[in-house]
Amino acid sequence: MSVTVRVPAKVNVQLAVGPPRADGFHDLATVFLAVGLHDEVTATPADALRITCSGPDAAQVPLDASNLAARAARLLADRHGRAPEVHLHIAKDIPVAGGMAGGSADAAGALLACDALWGTRTPRSELPELCAELGSDVPFSLLGGAALGQGRGERLTPLDVGGTFHWVFAVADGGLSTPAVYRAFDRLAADRTVPHPEPSAALIDALRTGDVHALAAHIGNDLQPAALSLRPSLADTLAAGTAAGALAALVSGSGPTCAFLAADASSAAKVAEALATSGTCRTTRLAPSPTPGATLL
Ligand code: C5P
Repeated sequence: MSVTVRVPAKVNVQLAVGPPRADGFHDLATVFLAVGLHDEVTATPADALRITCSGPDAAQVPLDASNLAARAARLLADRHGRAPEVHLHIAKDIPVAGGMAGGSADAAGALLACDALWGTRTPRSELPELCAELGSDVPFSLLGGAALGQGRGERLTPLDVGGTFHWVFAVADGGLSTPAVYRAFDRLAADRTVPHPEPSAALIDALRTGDVHALAAHIGNDLQPAALSLRPSLADTLAAGTAAGALAALVSGSGPTCAFLAADASSAAKVAEALATSGTCRTTRLAPSPTPGATLL
């Protein structure tokens, strides 16, 4: 017997970052959008906790106790006073350390898969809190769709989306460390007062009405200058996608994946083709949004 959960990647269409808090995190006003790139987490009975991973980037995924899916299994087992005996297999399709919440997706997937396998029946209302213990983006991986994230990103308000948005993702060689990008943000902001982050009403409205041009006009990521300072070549990637007709180009989350919003599916295919031949990224992916959160298959 085994249980498989499918979990989406995300892009932040707004990522407003405040000053560092006393706990080291930053208050955010962020709009998460789940996109159609997925990992699948399969839980199978085992004598001890074991993680395996398959997929083109599997070699970059840690298989030890630091893996967020392993931490999720241990957290759930502790909560229910049982041993974390499970084999978790991650079929990885989300770029690793790319700013698309791939590790968070695996954590949300592991939580749901273990809960079903073990029959621990954690109330659905308690899952977001467990997810938040694992990481700021994990509650959104569980929820999917679109949501406003506040606090460190874990406090979610679901948002309506009135259409399908078409994305191209340019995957870079190697990842970027999220804490390093936030530290670069603090360095770049050292000589100015960083305001408290506020949600963009215009952007939330664009999502609700499904207006891709309005969404493109209001999209933004405060971490982008920080990611560019650590990886200046991303400017060439962003420029290549814009030249190919993307309506908006931005670094996804803490990067280094770059996200391009296209007017429609055929424009997205053209942007992907131009990026693939531009020599400014390792590979490209097409994905529609929104898409549901963690789902038992
Ligand atoms: O919550 P998560 O484990 O994903 O965060 C990873 C790191 O990213 C944190 O340790 C912190 O350095 C940074 N971070 C932050 N503010 C946030 C989210 C993450 O500074 N809102």
